[in-house]
Amino acid sequence: MSQRIAVVTGGAGGLGTAICKALADAGRKVVATDTIAGTPEGQQWLDECRNDGYAFDLVFMDVTDFEGCGSAVSAIETEQGPIEVLINCAGITRDGTFKRMTPDQWRAVLSTNLDSVFNVTKHVVDGMMDRGFGRIVNISSLNGQKGQFGQANYSAAKAGMHGFTMALAQETARKGVTVNTVSPGYVATKMVMAVPEEVREKIVAQIPVGRLGDPREIGDSVVFLQRDESGFITGMDLSINGGQYMH
Ligand code: CAA
Repeated sequence: MSQRIAVVTGGAGGLGTAICKALADAGRKVVATDTIAGTPEGQQWLDECRNDGYAFDLVFMDVTDFEGCGSAVSAIETEQGPIEVLINCAGITRDGTFKRMTPDQWRAVLSTNLDSVFNVTKHVVDGMMDRGFGRIVNISSLNGQKGQFGQANYSAAKAGMHGFTMALAQETARKGVTVNTVSPGYVATKMVMAVPEEVREKIVAQIPVGRLGDPREIGDSVVFLQRDESGFITGMDLSINGGQYMH
């Protein structure tokens, strides 16, 4: 695989880190973007990755800020070269029953999980189409496919991501740019471990495979979709959920 530049938003998060590592193992030059860039926490993430043998770049990007995303993309492309692989992975949860959900909880999740996909992709996709090659993978969720009690905001945003995937995939298909969605189920990350234990145990009991997913399993699926050889796969939603939702 050639040394194409792959940008992973939310790259220092639970799934993001595994995706960065899997892409690097597949030969990509990985740039992670995250709001922790430039903080001690960001430095600690870089150090831990370096100890594991990964020399990533970590760039500040607030995915809710359209102009800021543009500046970060320009800086990456000026310093490193064209972005040929984009993984939209930044995401948050603000769970709560709809009855109790506040406008702030709604806005935070829609903005970070869905507006973000527009904010980042908009600055990257024209260059991909001009060069005739691009791979975009949007990290959605099982809960965007089936809905989840306590996640009206998250389920709406994640379902929206795949709508975006299907529309953009049609607009970019003739220019060598594929756009796909990966929908992980419950994977052993901080986000899932934040679900109260008794609730989580009930969820795991519904997973036919009988366990949480491993973040690496998501990373490997992203690698598959963004390969140079995967140019005929576009507009799809790849479910990785241990059989929890079959449709
Ligand atoms: N279906 C139907 N009823 C349910 C239910 C469900 N799935 N879950 C809870 N209820 C019921 C409860 O039995 C309870 O009923 P009673 O009032 O009659 O006793 C009522 O709803 C309230 O439940 P809680 O006590 O749990 O309410 P809460 O306000 O304390 O918590 C919650 C609500 C925050 C949504 C909590 O249930 C929760 O955290 N749920 C998990 C949400 C979840 O799966 N989040 C995923 C995060 S990870 C992620 O998002 C990654 C990914 O992509 C997969």
